[in-house]
Amino acid sequence: MKPLVIAIDGYSSCGKSTTAKAVAAALHYAYVDTGAMYRGVTLYLLEAGIAFDDMAAIEQALHDIHISFKRHRTTGRNELCLNGKIREDDIRQMRISNLVSEVSGIPMVRHAMVAQQQRMGRKRGVVMDGRDIGTTVFPDAEVKVFMTAEVEIRARRRQEELAAKGEHVELVDIIENLRKRDYLDSTRTESPLRRAADAVLLDTTHITISEQVDFVLDRASSAL
Ligand code: C5P
Repeated sequence: MKPLVIAIDGYSSCGKSTTAKAVAAALHYAYVDTGAMYRGVTLYLLEAGIAFDDMAAIEQALHDIHISFKRHRTTGRNELCLNGKIREDDIRQMRISNLVSEVSGIPMVRHAMVAQQQRMGRKRGVVMDGRDIGTTVFPDAEVKVFMTAEVEIRARRRQEELAAKGEHVELVDIIENLRKRDYLDSTRTESPLRRAADAVLLDTTHITISEQVDFVLDRASSAL
């Protein structure tokens, strides 16, 4: 069976990562969370005190940043490593969510991340979730799913995830963050968030995670 590239794109907090992870596990594929990579760059720039309009410093930073993923031995969680250090919890904080779309809109940042993502998937047999996988990173992906859901539902899910990690954020603040990110992600000039012409739409408002996973696995088995 030929290994596929499965691209899962869509709006923030639609369940893309949870679905992508489960699909990858079911197919014994690699999983790449591309949003985590943009979050990692944002964290690096913040900690290095680099302004988001200082292009010379950002260019240098992109040479200095090494992003990889490590699988947690007991939980199996895919954890983001920034320059060799696991920073998974740090990149999920609201302070990063509030700034990441500014950083991901910088063309130089996108070029570096897209090139790395293409290298990570070059052997295929990968599930990648993000905003531009089906349009820019792997326009030849055999399976393309574009996820959407009502914003209130997405915000509640995100609120529960944050609460589980001990971060309590008001629903209105999460809704504002999701709306802002969706707007910035969809309107940037470089590989904006949009549905590829050949992507199938999946509205996750009223369906469970296991239904989302089955939906993608069905598409994958028809592509095999
Ligand atoms: O997926 P997640 O919500 O963690 O993504 C964080 C942010 O990273 C998005 O809001 C978007 O700005 C950026 N992103 C992107 N392209 C991708 C994946 C994420 O621009 N392929």
